[in-house]
Amino acid sequence: MNTSDTLFQLLSRIPNLLPYEFQKYHQISKYGESDRTIRNKKWPKEWSEIYYKGYPRFKAYSLPQASNLRDAALQDAYFKRISAKQFSKAPCTVSETSDLLYFGAGEFDSPNTALTKRRFYPSAGARYPLEVYPIVLQHHEIPPGIYHYYVRGHAIEVLPQPRNIKKLLYQSIDQPFVKKASMVFAVSAVFDRTSIKYQERAYRLALMEAGHMCQNFYTTSAALGIGCCALGGFNDDTIHNLLGLDGISESILILMAFGHTD
Ligand SMILES: Cc1cc2nc3c(=O)[nH]c(=O)nc-3n(C[C@H](O)[C@H](O)[C@H](O)COP(=O)(O)O)c2cc1C
Repeated sequence: MNTSDTLFQLLSRIPNLLPYEFQKYHQISKYGESDRTIRNKKWPKEWSEIYYKGYPRFKAYSLPQASNLRDAALQDAYFKRISAKQFSKAPCTVSETSDLLYFGAGEFDSPNTALTKRRFYPSAGARYPLEVYPIVLQHHEIPPGIYHYYVRGHAIEVLPQPRNIKKLLYQSIDQPFVKKASMVFAVSAVFDRTSIKYQERAYRLALMEAGHMCQNFYTTSAALGIGCCALGGFNDDTIHNLLGLDGISESILILMAFGHTD
């Protein structure tokens, strides 16, 4: 880490010296210990009713039924995509893990385009602010622990392993079905990569990119026959501590749980 990175982090810890408003917003939108029981609350009607906007007084053209996509496998994966809320505890294989990381977050050679290395998701200004940390819980070949996906080498790097990883992770998520997941991928953003070009707007862009990446995880899981669920409810700082992130220059955005389903 160079001196300017260190200085940036030090300044960021002093509230009035945070360079961007989005960094302050990110702090206040974090979940802590007291926020994690939303799932235990009785849901009012407005939490489960699905709303549709329409313009009934305006003319409308009815569209024909959507045709079959030329790529039947892709269409099949779209229809199979679902948030799995039950895992069978059967572990994932290294081949499945490789496919998920590659098609979700990896890069490939693209010699005939402006960017000679491209990814399976778009990135504003090709700044690629996202990082993925696989947390392996039960697995056929990979020892449980915390890893970082090294995009350049398509490899998982073994990070320092804090004690009680599973206990801290399950406490942080507090959603019992995750205990049977084989892996949880933590998706973070290194905001500076994008804010150096787009300033405040970087925050929107990074969140959108995480959505694109996570859809790839979902579609790849569906194509592999693996269950997948996005998890937005977790204690941010517990995850930051597990991964060794400062939570300011690089913050966790979303978790993705994977596992086989019955
Ligand atoms: C950003 C985001 C966060 C989510 N967080 C959770 C979560 O914390 N726990 C959970 O069980 N499902 C979570 N979900 C999954 C939703 O419950 C699910 O997408 C929704 O019920 C629609 O179902 P489907 O994905 O199967 O079509 C999340 C989905 C998104 C997009």
